[in-house]
Amino acid sequence: MARIITLTVNPAIDKSTAVAGIVPNTKLRCTEPTYDAGGGGINVSRAIHKLGGTSLCTYFAGGPSGDYLKQLLNEQNIEQAVVSIAGWTRENLAVTDTTTNQQYRFGMPGPPIREIEWQSALKQLEIQLNKGDYLVASGKLPPQIPEDFYEKVSHIAEKKEARFILDTSGEALMKASKSKIYMLKPNLAELGALCGVSSITDLELKPLTKQFLKNHDCEILVVSLGPKGALLVTKNETVHVPAPVVHQKSTIGAGDSMVAGMVMSLIWGKPLSDMVRYGVACGTAATMHHGTQLCIKEDADKLYEWIKEQNPILETN
Ligand SMILES: Nc1ncnc2c1ncn2[C@@H]1O[C@H](COP(=O)(O)OP(=O)(O)OP(=O)(O)O)[C@@H](O)[C@H]1O
Ligand SMILES: [Mg+2]
Repeated sequence: MARIITLTVNPAIDKSTAVAGIVPNTKLRCTEPTYDAGGGGINVSRAIHKLGGTSLCTYFAGGPSGDYLKQLLNEQNIEQAVVSIAGWTRENLAVTDTTTNQQYRFGMPGPPIREIEWQSALKQLEIQLNKGDYLVASGKLPPQIPEDFYEKVSHIAEKKEARFILDTSGEALMKASKSKIYMLKPNLAELGALCGVSSITDLELKPLTKQFLKNHDCEILVVSLGPKGALLVTKNETVHVPAPVVHQKSTIGAGDSMVAGMVMSLIWGKPLSDMVRYGVACGTAATMHHGTQLCIKEDADKLYEWIKEQNPILETN
């Protein structure tokens, strides 16, 4: 049976706390912090687990914070393949000001990854991947790793006849888009960057995606549209799934929950139109909860049923 392997190049420990008022030059007494394992692929693995699936979570980790990251994932029973690095895994900080309910998020740069370390990750992937597996890479690249790293990953997936699913941004996305990708999940801004345009209107979206598929070795393109849902485009079909309106708490992790839902749907052997429906259901389910909690299966399943009942899918060729 096909397996899911996730790849996180720039993982983090997400530390969250709260304080009554953020003011300068004074000691701010924060509440007991909570700690979560974070980073694109790690979030996808956590969401897959919450949806009842399993994955092998591959990531770089180093130092005492790296050890703690392993412990956090162990506690969630997530299977891990750790690539050891000399640098220390980064820690991000999110502070909620309880007087305004505003959250301040401080993101740290990841540790530099040395050539011997990223080469070792590529070797590990080559050993782990089998024909038909899904390799899901999500997240930005940390310093010093070559910007074409995901392109190198794509070549390994191709060699092993595995299916490469990518969700990233910036130069890493531009470089990787030149290689073979089974499914790409940009948001609207990322698609704009890929197509060299600064904004995309509703009328321009479909022709742009068709044009993109014509010029790239990409089988499935899913453009996530935030509260407007998502558009799936392949050579043969175009499917738009609007997102249901929910009581929204936080959009953190919506993209990763969506990717997790789609890859689980593929594992269950569902057609692509159902895959994108379940992806939207999981992405929207993630927005119903605070912080780093990702999607809950019960919410995702209810939203999926609602989406199916509404049958709001517009399918065209
Ligand atoms: N405000 C919202 N209301 C309902 N659903 C939402 C909302 N924002 C996001 N979603 C759901 O999550 C999916 C992914 O969201 P989005 O398009 O914002 O991805 P993203 O920009 O890649 O997110 P991320 O910041 O997590 O990387 C959407 O397709 C939709 O299903
Ligand atoms: Mg995203």
